[in-house]
Amino acid sequence: MSEPLDPGALVDGQGRRIAYLRLSLTDRCNFRCSYCAPAGPDRSGDPLARPELARLVRIFAGLGVRRVRLTGGEPTLRPDLLDVVRDVRATPGIEEIALTTNGHALGTLAEALLAAGVSRLNVSLDTLDPERLHRIAGRAASLERIVTGLRAALRAGFASVKLNTVVVRGENEHEVGDLTRFAWRLGATPRFIELMPFGPGSPVPTAEVKALLAGQGIALEADATRGWGPAHHMRGTTDAAGERLAGLVGFIGAMTEGFCESCNRVRVSADGSLRACLGGRDRVALAELVRAGASDADIAGRIRAALLAKRDRHHMADDAGGLLPMIGTGG
Ligand code: 5AD
Ligand code: SF4
Repeated sequence: MSEPLDPGALVDGQGRRIAYLRLSLTDRCNFRCSYCAPAGPDRSGDPLARPELARLVRIFAGLGVRRVRLTGGEPTLRPDLLDVVRDVRATPGIEEIALTTNGHALGTLAEALLAAGVSRLNVSLDTLDPERLHRIAGRAASLERIVTGLRAALRAGFASVKLNTVVVRGENEHEVGDLTRFAWRLGATPRFIELMPFGPGSPVPTAEVKALLAGQGIALEADATRGWGPAHHMRGTTDAAGERLAGLVGFIGAMTEGFCESCNRVRVSADGSLRACLGGRDRVALAELVRAGASDADIAGRIRAALLAKRDRHHMADDAGGLLPMIGTGG
């Protein structure tokens, strides 16, 4: 972060400044990615209502949060999404809004999202093969719709569009080169994420993904570009069949790299609980506090206390099995 450290700003127990809020708007999703959504119907808890979301964002902004990512489940399933975006946009202190989506609704929503105040999009895409997509994300997932949505997003002119691929062994590791070329051709940045143990499947370590990329025709060199979170980047080029392409490639080594050292984030899950760490089981029921009439100062105090208790890093490899499903926190 560029601004000076305000003494009232949120810091966690390890002295990490927390300026980035990931807000899950729903734990429903029209896809069923095995690594994210547990089998069976979506939970039907009471998601935070629009005024509750607006109030929490205002409290977090007062604590120094500057960037908000709206996530899910699938945030575009919320009928009031554009109003929620406008509320966040209107919150003093918030400088940037990003959205994570499966891309299905972008064909119709991309322009409206940009106009409402979203400037960055992360779109999940694990494969360019329609059948494999069905296997990974369920029958509802249509590659054609996602690609149409991505094109609409690139046309609309977001500051950044990233394509997030979770690399799963035996499933899509042979596609990393094609996914990279596909993203670059569109004008998007491909990112490869190590599978976290929320469901079945085994991860492919980032170091191995880099070797796979090299083997699939993508030459990589070091690059210092940093984003909001724990991703690191490399600059890549490819020269296949007379087509020369170049761009950044992002890597999120959630399991094998120093993912946590630069952690600058806090999460509010769809049911309104604060999650200091994705891999932790500790929660603060912010929704209950809001509904019980707690003051802004009480809520801010609870947020500070929860972050001070945050551990230095996630312990997912040991905690696997006891993790809360990803679908309610959106990564
Ligand atoms: N491991 C890694 N990333 C995951 N996501 C969901 N589940 C997992 C998991 N188990 C991420 C994906 C998806 C976003 C919504 O959440 O990147 O794009
Ligand atoms: Fe839905 Fe994204 Fe989870 Fe897949 S990874 S089930 S698209 S929220």
